[in-house]
Amino acid sequence: MNVAVRALKRKKAAADPADLLAWYDRHRRVLPWRARGRAKADPYAVWLSEIMLQQTTVKTVGPYYAKFLTRWPTVQALAAAPLDDVLRAWAGLGYYARARNLHACARAVVERHGGVFPRELEALRALPGIGEYTAAAVGAIAFDLPAVPVDGNVERVVTRLFAIEEAMPAAKPEIKRLAASLLPQHRSGDFAQSLMDLGATICSPKKPACALCPWNEPCMARARGDQETFPRKAPKREGKERYGAAFVALRADGCVLLRQRPEKGLLGAMTEVPGSDWAHDFDLQTALGAAPLKAKWRKLAGNVTHVFTHFPLRLTVYLAELPRGTKAPKGARWAKVSGLAGEALPTVMRKVLAHALD
Ligand code: ADE
Repeated sequence: MNVAVRALKRKKAAADPADLLAWYDRHRRVLPWRARGRAKADPYAVWLSEIMLQQTTVKTVGPYYAKFLTRWPTVQALAAAPLDDVLRAWAGLGYYARARNLHACARAVVERHGGVFPRELEALRALPGIGEYTAAAVGAIAFDLPAVPVDGNVERVVTRLFAIEEAMPAAKPEIKRLAASLLPQHRSGDFAQSLMDLGATICSPKKPACALCPWNEPCMARARGDQETFPRKAPKREGKERYGAAFVALRADGCVLLRQRPEKGLLGAMTEVPGSDWAHDFDLQTALGAAPLKAKWRKLAGNVTHVFTHFPLRLTVYLAELPRGTKAPKGARWAKVSGLAGEALPTVMRKVLAHALD
């Protein structure tokens, strides 16, 4: 048996958290909110960094984190600050709900817990702005509670390590279960951060640096060579087709009837040819009930089709010719066909007009 075949046949060892921790001890990123060596980080600082890092990069967060800690060095100081000052200092980090929650959470820690962050996951989760991920991150990093925070980076690491075939987001419970199965007896906080670092620096979405990975031996996806294809994504589900009718009313003076779509929703406030609602169960027999005015409506041969992000649409088009002087019904107006290029007509409506007039 040659070496390669023997290597393939050898039973693979399970991923050992000790290997990841040893790698972390040598290669961990130096980040402002991280304690040096084996020192424990300040829970307030850990929490502050985790809130800031939600939907924001490590690089962007750095200066904000420093500014906040200098200005409000304790949770009591932050709780005592006027909300407006906190919002102003937050400006640029985006998602202002996070800043409001940050302030509300600081107050809750002072009011409910005497200014000391609680050491239980449940109590952490009950605080404003702290969800499952943040509770696990703060619990593990600040208190070594046995929890694994699972974010997108960690999902990538775990789905590759175990070659999880189930697509996202359905795979999330399985990922959490397997991530928890890796948790070492000690050093939960370092383990959480080592997973984050592995995902951020080695196990990248494209071209992961597997040769440098402390878990490249037990990685099931790596053994098969398809590691870049994880996590699996569900095929984009096209919605069910919808149907409707569009009515092109052409007046003898070369005008066509148009109206504005509602402000909210699909193609909000854009211009359209009057028509029916678009529905899965649209009934062509009663389509004329949606016509904007009384006329000799002629159903045109063929359909207009258009694919929106969430569903494909098939429209039946009706055409009627109307005498000069015909008044526009309420909510509609006459527009010169020669001026249609300047109208805010979405593609689907340009298709309808081309179908009827060209
Ligand atoms: N992303 C979210 N939390 C983080 C942390 N504590 N360290 C590095 N990256 C992170």
